[in-house]
This record gives sequence, C-alpha cells and structure tokens, in this order.
Amino acid sequence: MSKFLEEYTKRTPTSGKEAARAQAIIPGGVGSAIQFWPPYPLFVDNSEGAYVWDLDGNKYIDYSMCYAAMISGHANPIVTKAIQEQAEKGVLFGLSGTVATDLAEEIQRRYPSMEMMRFTQSGVEATMNAVRLARAATEKMGVIKCEGMYHGASDTLLVSCGVPSNTPAGPGWMPSPHVESAGIPAGSTDHTYVVQFNHIESLEYCLNKHAGEIACFIIEPCMTNGGVIPPDPGYLDAVRELTIKHNVLLIFDEVKVGCRLAMGGAAELYNIKPDIVTLAKAIGGGTPLGAFGGRRDLMSLISPLGPSIHFGTYNANPLTTAAGLACLKEVMTEEATKRINELGKKYAAGLEAIINKLGLPACVTHEGPLGGIQFVPEKPHTYRQANQGNKAMWTEYWYGMLSKGVIPMGSGWFEEYSISVAHTEEDINETLNITEDVLATVKKNLM
Ligand SMILES: Cc1ncc(COP(=O)(O)O)c(C=O)c1O
Repeated sequence: MSKFLEEYTKRTPTSGKEAARAQAIIPGGVGSAIQFWPPYPLFVDNSEGAYVWDLDGNKYIDYSMCYAAMISGHANPIVTKAIQEQAEKGVLFGLSGTVATDLAEEIQRRYPSMEMMRFTQSGVEATMNAVRLARAATEKMGVIKCEGMYHGASDTLLVSCGVPSNTPAGPGWMPSPHVESAGIPAGSTDHTYVVQFNHIESLEYCLNKHAGEIACFIIEPCMTNGGVIPPDPGYLDAVRELTIKHNVLLIFDEVKVGCRLAMGGAAELYNIKPDIVTLAKAIGGGTPLGAFGGRRDLMSLISPLGPSIHFGTYNANPLTTAAGLACLKEVMTEEATKRINELGKKYAAGLEAIINKLGLPACVTHEGPLGGIQFVPEKPHTYRQANQGNKAMWTEYWYGMLSKGVIPMGSGWFEEYSISVAHTEEDINETLNITEDVLATVKKNLM
C-alpha cells in the first residue's frame, strides 16, 4: 500500500465504517459510480464555502465542488436564504409561478441564442431532450459526438465517453464507437457516431460518410471530461461552418462550462452561436436543475406547441429555480465571474511552476476556473493524447492530496478542479504548498 493511501485510511476510519454500512444497501455505497474510489470514498458531515468536513472531523479544501456544480460555494448564505424563503411558500405546485420565467430571462440575457428554453432536473435530461428535439426537427436519427466526452447517462449518448486504454478503438481521427453500459438496446446507439475533438477532418469525414443522416453534433465546446482541453484556435468556427454546410444542428453542451467561463459561458467566450445549448450545474446554485434551449423555431416543436415531448413532474420547480435565480443574479455577478477566472489562471500558473521546478513529465490544461494536472509531458489537444497519461502518478497525487486535506479535483484523472466564488488566494497558496510536497513524493516514488 502506498504511504499516501495508508495515511488516507488512517485519517478516515469513520468514513470506512460508514462506507461498509452504506454498501450493504446502496450499490457501491454511493449515489453515482464516479463518487466511489477504493478502498472507500470520504463521507461528509458538513460543508461551508470552499471547505468540507468528513465524519472524522478532517477539513478539506474542496476543488471538486461536486464535479463543478457548487460554483457558489458550499452552503452559500444567499442561495440558502432563497431556498428557505421559497420552501416556506411551498416547494411544488404543478402549476406555473414567476420564478422560472425570471430565471429563463436571466439565462437568455447571458445566452441570446437561447430564444426559448425548458428546465429539467439534471444535465442528462437536458442533453437527452436536446437530442430528441434535434431529431424531431430534422427528422433524422444520426447523432455525432466526440470521443471522451460525457453528456450524461442517456442510452444514445453513453458511447465512447471514456475508452479504456486497452480497448481497440480504431484510428484517432475515426474512433470506433464504444458502448459504455450493459443494458442498452443496440437500436439506441446504432445512430451514434464518434469523432475526435480538435480534429476537424474527423468531423468532416463523418459528416460526408453519413451525409443526409445526421440530426446533430453535440459537443462540449471546451472538453472537461478528458481533463480540461480547450478548443484549438479556429476549431469551433470550422465546426460551426461545417454543421451549417451539412444542415446539421449544433448542440453546445455547457452543463459544466456554462455561466462560468464567461457570463454567457463558452458560447460567449468563443463567440459561436449554437442552435441549442444545454445547461445544468452552475444554473441551479447546487440544486438539481438543468435547462435546454435554442432557436425559437426549434423550441416551438416542444409540446404543447409541437410534437416533441418534454414532460416532468418536477420540471421548473420553484425550489431549484429560486436557488438558480439567486445564484446567477446575486452570486455569479460579472465581478465574481471575472474573479474566479483570474483565480483559475493564478492556480494554473502556480501548478505549472511546480511541475517545471520538479521536472515532472506532466502539464496543466485549463480554461478559466476549470483545469487540472495531466500526467503527460505535452499538453494534450485530444482525448487520445490525454488518455496516455500516467494513471499511477495521478493516483498517487490523488491520495497524497486527500491525505493532506485537499480534494484536488473530481475523483478521476479525466475530471477537473473547479474554483468557486468561495475560494480565496490563501486557499490557492496553501494548496500550492501542499501540491509541491505531494508531487515531490510522486516524483521520488514513481520516476
Ligand atoms: C458535459 C456534461 N454534460 C452532461 C452531464 C450530465 O449532467 P448530470 O450529472 O447533471 O446529469 C455532465 C455531468 O457531469 C457533464 O459534465
């Protein structure tokens, strides 16, 4: 057992006990597989701002921030107050109020391309409904996605999200689709085609090969599920041009990057007008809220206006939309958005300096407040390149940081650190000091 892993288990005996109790009744003892890591994950007692405390009372500076959902920081008082005030008036009516419209107007101010939108409970529902809408609008079934990108666990999109290094996946520019889960009917993925991010010829080849069959190209404009890999200059412009030329709808999945890289997310930062945008995470202030929206003519196909179904008892519920409205209007102001982007740059520069000083075969990839250490010597531009990373080094880094009171990112090499409005310069400096110690040990043990 590595010394870091030994330290981790020594510090967290109560999490270990609680994991055993949970595992007897909940698969893996966790709500979602990503939340599991061996021998057991942390079990949390409480949280505030940039910190969480585990059941043994250990404090952690948190950079996972629930896989980038907690942009407003844990237990943000403004968001908490909005939830409390709404709860006192009622949490669910099955009838419309005013809050969802207020939030839709705020989102539209940030994303002018979302001429109309609908709310969901999660990112997966947002992307699933966006794809259904694209298919309804075009009367075509083909969906193109990028290798390594995760758009939520719906059948059509659960293809080539993470391709194990030992799986034959075809040439990089023409990846073979890899279905991620048992239990998915072949028909659901038969029309899902996979291309390489940042490789425009890969998309062009696929569009030509399946000419006339494709409804949409769904893409994270900045990849966040292969480490954080920004688009190469000109790539997204070429994507927009090609999709227009082939009459294919362009869906920007901004579930992770939305309302974060800029007020209007990636669409604003990269100055691209997609046909449909999907959002979640930041827009709910940490509560389960997603949205999909786009051109009025497309959204007018949604029931009761048109034939594309989008149902849900909890859709646009008062509680989550109130939390989202408080988060976007009062917490994620222009100033706050600028601040987390600046802090993100400072953190990335600090990590880069440590890597250079130690001479580690690693690099930092980042965009604004999101980023991560990739254990490959050259900055990756594609999922294939990122997937070459040294997983043993990443694992040692992960347990090293945990054992010293930092959750450095989401729990997988392909996740990211996420800086929230609650993180401070002091947090960043403290984290950089800890990182330098941990990476020095990683180097000593694994190089
Ligand atoms: C880009 C992207 N799209 C969709 C999803 C699915 O969102 P959710 O977990 O809210 O269903 C995620 C989740 O992390 C994501 O990163």
